[in-house]
Amino acid sequence: MTSPDLTRREALEAAAVTGGALLGGQLMPGTTPPADAQDPDGTPASLEVVLHVNGTEHRLTLDPRTTLLDALREHLHLTGSKKGCGLGQCGACTVLMDGKRVKSCLNLAALVDGREITTIEGLARGKQLHPLQAAFIERDAFQCGYCTSGQIMAGVACIAEGHAGSAQEIREWMSGNLCRCGAYDHIVAAIQDAAAVTESVQRG
Ligand code: FES
Ligand code: FES
Repeated sequence: MTSPDLTRREALEAAAVTGGALLGGQLMPGTTPPADAQDPDGTPASLEVVLHVNGTEHRLTLDPRTTLLDALREHLHLTGSKKGCGLGQCGACTVLMDGKRVKSCLNLAALVDGREITTIEGLARGKQLHPLQAAFIERDAFQCGYCTSGQIMAGVACIAEGHAGSAQEIREWMSGNLCRCGAYDHIVAAIQDAAAVTESVQRG
């Protein structure tokens, strides 16, 4: 029989690796239906869009108003990226675009045609977790897990940008990613751990 500790750890790993939130099955509170199902009378003509996500090319037919976040979640079923506010204020939807962090709720899918998108689902290399995913698990850097995929994607960028030199610097450069559970101390510690790993790998 699985121990309660093991069960929790497995759940935490799922949140860090695929973005599965832990809160009562509420994977996407406030989510709106796909754009192409919202207003049949006023729907503009669909567009053919090519999205490159986690190394795979996807050809989609989308309402031109579809955000990148909705394209990922509703059309590609990559539900690790979360919709918190839908307004660019919480960071739960953060993904990498050509290696830079962006809030996917603020980008229209049709306008990122041809860009390389990386989501939480594409961060690990097979079974080998990204150092920041491993650090989040090690540091227990989340509670409900709803913000976690966005925190990890932003944290990866924060390290790559060279903005992880101190706890204060990390807090400043991660300020666009909110955690309503208040796991900030653990998140900062995880980013510091992953930054140290990255630095030692770069030094060889
Ligand atoms: S859902 Fe995109 S910033 Fe909140
Ligand atoms: S862990 Fe719950 S919102 Fe951050």
